Amino acid sequence: MIFEKFKNKKVLITGHTGFKGSWLSTCLSIMGARVFGISNNVPTTPSHFENIKKFLEKDFRGDIRNASRIKELVKEVQPDYVFHLAAQSLVKKSYSDPILTWETNLMGTINLLEGLSELKKKCIAILITSDKCYENLEWVWGYRETDRLGGADPYSASKAAAEIAINSYVKSYFSKSNISIASARAGNVIGGGDWSEYRLIPDCVKAWSKKETVVLRRPNSTRPWQHVLEPLGGYLMLANKLYENRDLHGESFNFGPSLNKNFTVLDVVNEIAINWNDIKFITQSNLEDDFHECNLLKLNCDKALQYLNWSSCLNFEQTINYTSHWYMKYYENPCNIEETTKIQISEYFKIFNNKNLKV
Ligand SMILES: NC(=O)c1ccc[n+]([C@@H]2O[C@H](COP(=O)([O-])OP(=O)(O)OC[C@H]3O[C@@H](n4cnc5c(N)ncnc54)[C@H](O)[C@@H]3O)[C@@H](O)[C@H]2O)c1
Repeated sequence: MIFEKFKNKKVLITGHTGFKGSWLSTCLSIMGARVFGISNNVPTTPSHFENIKKFLEKDFRGDIRNASRIKELVKEVQPDYVFHLAAQSLVKKSYSDPILTWETNLMGTINLLEGLSELKKKCIAILITSDKCYENLEWVWGYRETDRLGGADPYSASKAAAEIAINSYVKSYFSKSNISIASARAGNVIGGGDWSEYRLIPDCVKAWSKKETVVLRRPNSTRPWQHVLEPLGGYLMLANKLYENRDLHGESFNFGPSLNKNFTVLDVVNEIAINWNDIKFITQSNLEDDFHECNLLKLNCDKALQYLNWSSCLNFEQTINYTSHWYMKYYENPCNIEETTKIQISEYFKIFNNKNLKV
């Protein structure tokens, strides 16, 4: 089983207090890794991180924009693996605070690369950007890793810029190094434990738990919806592959659902409605405070299949089921939610191992 390779390894996760970071910390801890996290804060209330923080060996506070602090922490931890997730991750906030977004997403990535360049030991770094790093042409087919980078909004552009910076650092400073680096571009992730503002599922469950009506923006937009555990499985497989050999050093990988599985915002909400009683929503396309966001976004994940034998495991109904089950359990009793997280990880990786780890 390749995930046994994380046992007793030191893994540093930036952005460990966020949505994906809290799930990744739990997964790696269950796999026997020693997990260290760096984040500037706990970004939401409630917070999934607060439910699972006992799984970490060390919970550091540090700002990814602070180059010397990041260098110091990388040196202190001496990681075998790094997963870089820290980001200003919201498109809407990127419009109201572009400087914070650029500093965090671009300079934060560069600060981490600078810290890694001083490590003397073997280390694998998976740097998470976004599916939004591609110049969006509203194509009906999926973006490939070689497609042009770009982005109209500050979030997307900062992620495209992070990709360019990673590529430059790989070529300039890591060509003959013990550090192997790859970037990962995943699509819209859903799942329990996301409490961010301006994201579809958290906005819905927060409103429904108070019997309020949700206003759905852009009900017909499609997104490559996938459960949070799907890209995390991909990041772990990519890290493993890089640990075995450096052939994939400097490469980028898409992680998304298969192309026949792109659903609209309305599809998502209608599917949740099957599990969640008595919900109310209205759809509105032209809201006054609305901001530009692309309507159509698909990822081509053939490269991950070819080189990593990775493909997504859950169909749309299972993805929504995992998600709504988690939130229903949370509202039943938030104190027991750690158990639900662990059960979902265990169930998911059984499916994952059967599908992706068969030789
Ligand atoms: N959630 C999605 O649908 C999605 C889709 C594509 C890409 N991504 C990318 O995946 C990564 C994780 O996403 P998420 O949904 O978990 O985001 P999140 O907003 O839930 O978490 C972000 C994390 O980064 C930390 N952070 C923010 N600013 C920081 C700073 N200045 N210094 C240190 N830490 C800082 C936060 O404290 C938090 O731990 C991000 O890079 C995001 O852009 C997410």
